[in-house]
Amino acid sequence: MYRILVCGAGTMGSGIAQVAATAGFTTLLYELNPQVLEGAKERLRRSLEGLVEKGRLTAEKKDAIWQRLQFTSDLDECQADIVIEAIIEKREAKVELFNRLAAINGERTVFASNTSSLSITSIAEGLTHPERVAGLHFFNPAPLMKLVEVVRGRHTSDEVADLLTELTRSFGKEPVHCTDSPGFIVNRVARPYYIEALRQAEAGLASFETIDRLLEARGFRMGPFKLMDLIGNDVNYAVSCSVYEQLGRPERLKPSPIQEEKVARGELGKKTGQGYYRY
Ligand SMILES: NC(=O)c1ccc[n+]([C@@H]2O[C@H](COP(=O)([O-])OP(=O)(O)OC[C@H]3O[C@@H](n4cnc5c(N)ncnc54)[C@H](O)[C@@H]3O)[C@@H](O)[C@H]2O)c1
Repeated sequence: MYRILVCGAGTMGSGIAQVAATAGFTTLLYELNPQVLEGAKERLRRSLEGLVEKGRLTAEKKDAIWQRLQFTSDLDECQADIVIEAIIEKREAKVELFNRLAAINGERTVFASNTSSLSITSIAEGLTHPERVAGLHFFNPAPLMKLVEVVRGRHTSDEVADLLTELTRSFGKEPVHCTDSPGFIVNRVARPYYIEALRQAEAGLASFETIDRLLEARGFRMGPFKLMDLIGNDVNYAVSCSVYEQLGRPERLKPSPIQEEKVARGELGKKTGQGYYRY
């Protein structure tokens, strides 16, 4: 059994830690901010208890999962076989974290990034062992969404790609292989969904609520504004900018000033209680 380290206890990291511990792996959740870590611990505890209440998990299983979860804000405690990072969407931060972890981990530790849009090759090239780096892109909410994009960078070894594919399966998820290209598959296809809706709102053609309601009535599970609030407007804006830049700034994918404004105001969506909607 591998020991898993998940970095970043935000929206994605806490969900991924729940998935890994539920699948039977000892899982350490590392977060820079001790207050955020405490909040994540509480959310995870409540999430597992909620599953027991709904009859989806026995109390014994819940206790066993809880036993497998560990929490820390101390990087020196972060030893693992497989690292899955879900920190801020900035290449430099991810490279720095991986390098600090590489210095205190063994020769075979694998470094997986949950990045939505950054180049895996460019992250890997910041490390001494780029063959040990790959993308492992979960979807939100991680405990519920089945799909995981397994992204091979230019240097990713076959051994690492196979290991992460198997790991994804043992998490009860469905791995899909992607090449390392801007936004991979899902985020690239989804980008116009957000951008076109934002353009309509910018032009005053319809309100956020109306656009959401109409698209949901047409069969989409979530309207674009509700979905952006779930993702986090800071994360969604960072991904929009990253995909736009990497594709050579196509006008049709230009990020919206509304996104920038939401981020500047700290209206990040569900996680802050205010986004396009109030929570
Ligand atoms: N939100 C989504 O829907 C979604 C979906 C798939 C992938 N992602 C990707 O997952 C990553 C995280 O996104 P999120 O939505 O969970 O963000 P988030 O803002 O909810 O959480 C990020 C957490 O990382 C912590 N952090 C920042 N720098 C750190 C560091 N150096 N070491 C340890 N912790 C650090 C922050 O304090 C924060 O708690 C991003 O790369 C994002 O692109 C997000």
